[in-house]
Amino acid sequence: MSEQKKTPFAECARLLDRLAETHSLSREEYALLVRSASPELASYAAQKAVPLRKQWYGTDVYLRGLIEISSYCRNDCFYCGIRRGNISCERYRLTPEQILACCERGFALGFRTFVLQGGEDAFYTDAILCELIRSVKERCPGCAVTLSLGERSRESYEQLFAAGADRYLLRHETADPVHYAKLHPPVQTLENRMRCLRDLREIGYQVGCGFMVGSPYQTDDCLAADLKFIEEFQPDMCGIGPFIPHHATPFAQCPAGSVDQTLFLLSVIRLICPHILLPATTALGTLSSDGRERGILAGANVIMPNLSPEEDRGKYELYDNKLYTGAEAAEHRRRLEERLQAIGYTAVTARGDVRYSKMENENLKGKNI
Ligand code: 5AD
Repeated sequence: MSEQKKTPFAECARLLDRLAETHSLSREEYALLVRSASPELASYAAQKAVPLRKQWYGTDVYLRGLIEISSYCRNDCFYCGIRRGNISCERYRLTPEQILACCERGFALGFRTFVLQGGEDAFYTDAILCELIRSVKERCPGCAVTLSLGERSRESYEQLFAAGADRYLLRHETADPVHYAKLHPPVQTLENRMRCLRDLREIGYQVGCGFMVGSPYQTDDCLAADLKFIEEFQPDMCGIGPFIPHHATPFAQCPAGSVDQTLFLLSVIRLICPHILLPATTALGTLSSDGRERGILAGANVIMPNLSPEEDRGKYELYDNKLYTGAEAAEHRRRLEERLQAIGYTAVTARGDVRYSKMENENLKGKNI
């Protein structure tokens, strides 16, 4: 953590006012905000973020059905419980038929977006995925398919898009290359991560990036780089959640990230990109029993209940104590709806595409990152 002094509240509040107006600050200004965060500043940021979100989305909170299709992964990210090097991890892989069955169950429950997420598992070739995507679209008419399957070639992303995939989530994890190298083995580079994000954007996907809050070695300046990256890249979606240690990873002894800092950053991201789709993540709900509601109250507008088969849910263990029951489970939608209603929000299962005007969308497409 930086040794620099905190900037007084009034000055930070002025920066947030400017951010709400212009949606842009310098990297130094973002660092100053991160360094100076306090409960008072977080509540000021939320006060600014909530009306902006309401302007675009009213009180709607979009529900996405999350299907964790495989816990096999070729990567060895130091923070992640399903990293290749974790030999104590019980692996599972859903067959295309099982995945389709999950989507159909979700469709019957009212879900209109399915997020297929998994480790980088070579079983899922382009051919298998393309057929799967086509079948989901056929059996669940009008739904959106979001993929979250890690780094692939541009050609692969093109084929999956041609088969009907609409969106792709690929957290950038950290926008600082030195920090990136502390979280990943040398074969994984920030450069390739960014290449993927750029390709996805150019191909025409709605693209989501994101990062963990409080990951090991993260500094205020790393977070400032993340915020500046989000400002420049203008993602359609952004997933952020606190880092939570997993007992069988090199970071087992590292402290978890902070819920309060995550909430503050959700508000700041809403101020940077007013129309972004911003989930209150499972990690936030895992660290705090009302984390998801607090995420919504800070400016988030998406929740991703778990639609994976019940017998496998516990095995997709990215971090310790990951939630997968209760309001987290798609079957308990009613409970989730009630919890959202209690804080003045409405659960919506419509596709809920990001609300760009067509022109804005065109302008953003070729944008370099
Ligand atoms: N704590 C919190 N989030 C994690 N992820 C992976 N491991 C952890 C962890 N220990 C996040 C990463 C990844 C996403 C699928 O889950 O950001 O992109």
